[in-house]
Amino acid sequence: MYLSHLTSLLALALAVASQDTSIRKVDAAFAAANLPANLDITFKPTALLEVSLPQATGPPITLHAGIQVPRNGNTDTAGPPTFHVVGDVGKGPFVVAAVDPDAPTPQAPTSAQIRHFLGGNFFNHGGLLKNTTPAISEFRQPTPPAGSDAHRYTFLLFHQSEAFASQTLVNANTSVSLFNISQFAAAVDLGNPIAGTFMLVAPDPTTTSA
Ligand SMILES: *[C@@H]1O[C@H](CO)[C@@H](O)[C@H](O)[C@H]1NC(C)=O
Ligand SMILES: *[C@@H]1O[C@H](CO)[C@@H](O)[C@H](O)[C@H]1NC(C)=O
Repeated sequence: MYLSHLTSLLALALAVASQDTSIRKVDAAFAAANLPANLDITFKPTALLEVSLPQATGPPITLHAGIQVPRNGNTDTAGPPTFHVVGDVGKGPFVVAAVDPDAPTPQAPTSAQIRHFLGGNFFNHGGLLKNTTPAISEFRQPTPPAGSDAHRYTFLLFHQSEAFASQTLVNANTSVSLFNISQFAAAVDLGNPIAGTFMLVAPDPTTTSA
C-alpha cells in the first residue's frame, strides 16, 4: 500500500538523516534537559542549527538535540564540526558558541562552563556556515572524566553584534574553564541565541572509573 511504503521511506530517511527537523522539538529538548535554566539563557529558537561531526570512515554524525554520541577515542566526537543553519536568518555574520555546563560532573560542575568553541564571522552560504576568520576558541573534543555521567555539550548560534568584533574579553589564551555564555553574550551584545542543539557524551567505557 502506498501509505505504508511512504512511511517506511520516511523511517529510512529519518534513520539516515537524524538531524533536527522541528524547532518546537529542539525547544522541548532544551527545556527537558534544563539547559536554558542551567545556561541562564533565553532560548526561543527561530531556526535550526545543524552540527555535523566528520568521521574517519563513513558519513558524519549530524546531531539532533539530546542525541547520545559515543566519545569513542579520537573518532566520533573529535571534530572539528561543520555548521549549517536551516531557516530565514539572513546572510550573517553569526557567532557560534559551544559550552559544557557539566564539568567535571553534572552533579558538581565546579569548572563549568567549559568553552568548547567560540567563533565569529560565520556567513550563510545556502545554509552552510563558513567563517572568514579563525575561531577565537577552536573546537575542543569532549573529555568527560572517568566515572562522570554524560555531559550536555551545547551549541548555540547568535547574530553577531558590532561589539563582538572588537571584544577583548576572550582570546585564544583565555582559560576555557569558568566561561559563562550568558554573561559573555550580554557583555558583547549578542542577544539571545537564534538556534541551538546539544549532544550527550559520556566517558569512554574503556576508561576506568574514578
Ligand atoms: C597568546 O600567548 C602567546 C604566548 O605568550 C602570544 O604569543 C600570543 O600573542 C597570545 N595570543 C593572544 C591572542 O593574545
Ligand atoms: C553566569 O552569569 C549569570 C549572570 O549573567 C549568572 O546568573 C550565572 O549564575 C552565571 N553562571 C555560572 C555558571 O557562573
